Amino acid sequence: MNDLHGRRIVLGITGGVAAYKAAELARLLIKAGAVVDVVMTAAGAQFVGVATFQALTGRPVWQALWDERMANGMAHIDLTRGADALVVAPATADFIAKLAQGRADDLLSTLCLARDCPLLVAPAMNRQMWQNPATQRNVAQIGADGIAVLGPASGEQACGEVGEGRMLEAQEIAYDLIASLQPKILMGRRAILTAGPTFEPLDPVRGLTNSSSGKMGYALARACAEAGAEVTLVSGPVSLMTPRGVRRVDVQTALQMRETVKSVLAGRRPNDIFIAVAAVADFRPKSATEHKIKKGAAALTLELEANPDILAEIASLPDAPFCVGFAAESRDLATYAEGKRVAKKLDLVVGNLVQDGLGGDDNSVTLFDTEGSHALPPGDKLTIARAIVRHITNLLEKNCASN
Ligand code: PMT
Repeated sequence: MNDLHGRRIVLGITGGVAAYKAAELARLLIKAGAVVDVVMTAAGAQFVGVATFQALTGRPVWQALWDERMANGMAHIDLTRGADALVVAPATADFIAKLAQGRADDLLSTLCLARDCPLLVAPAMNRQMWQNPATQRNVAQIGADGIAVLGPASGEQACGEVGEGRMLEAQEIAYDLIASLQPKILMGRRAILTAGPTFEPLDPVRGLTNSSSGKMGYALARACAEAGAEVTLVSGPVSLMTPRGVRRVDVQTALQMRETVKSVLAGRRPNDIFIAVAAVADFRPKSATEHKIKKGAAALTLELEANPDILAEIASLPDAPFCVGFAAESRDLATYAEGKRVAKKLDLVVGNLVQDGLGGDDNSVTLFDTEGSHALPPGDKLTIARAIVRHITNLLEKNCASN
């Protein structure tokens, strides 16, 4: 994924043992397409060598305010000009205190003060230092000053103690940075999504399900959260990590999914968006047996009954949210997808061919709305999810303009 293509990130490293994770962070940012300029404090360079970052980034590492390599002697200005973000990871208690006071006594703190790009800090310190009222005051202050504070996490610390203060993992910091760079086009809105398959039990060990992996729904939940929405993800059984910043409610059956969606939408708000990505089982066994069905008879007849259509029910509410459905078809995509949009009275249907969408990391979709069909370029599910979010935002804006 090329989430940071064309971006320049300044990575600041202060003196904490978590500095070793900054090497992995630099690698991840470069892998995502960014150009990375590393700035280390003197203490930071005590923990990890300058050569490590020079080798990883292929660029000089900056340490001193008076660095002669910067032709105009303005390293404290030049390094953040044109940068997309400045990330300090790890950020020690001392460095956070400096930021809170607006002090600038070395290159990194001066860059932070003179920057014209977003600043994100990932605290890393002993749990007592983190809990100290002075640190908490400073963290609140930098938050109020518009600096994004990522973490910290809780767990075992380098000193052997256990508690809050560990730096987030490099992967989490990269994730939060990428999210912070996405336009906040769904700010103030709530998005409720369904994702994954449902599992309809037959006996204690068997059931009816399908091969939805949940990847498309989880990517959309992530894209909605990145765009600033408050996101609730009602998920069937999948083995995926919950996207950061997303509230996830696990369900198993279509009936549980329906009840959960209804209860989340009970306190409906005018700005809500409902996106049904789940591959819901259309039928469930009429009754699940208490004990395992034993092999014996040569044949077994299952009696099935229809599950409710969650999306159709929500879309037919008097003050229905903005409703988006998905259609996975094996043929005649346009006919079936557009048919579902009209039949269920949906604002938008995302059509995908089963062979493109189910299970894999990539997808190829066409969007169907009142104005016709719009094919999106094929791509990974997150890129497609972000494009769907942009399309939803355009439709919402048009709705607002016409009301
Ligand atoms: O999870 P992945 O492996 O990433 O795969 C993604 C996907 C292919 C499952 C996804 O992109 C997709 O297409 N999901 C919808 C599958 C489908 O065709 O559903 P449907 O035709 O049964 O239903 C149409 C719409 O109504 C869907 O939005 C569905 O969530 C909703 N529905 C359907 C039945 C039901 N009882 N309740 C519902 O809400």
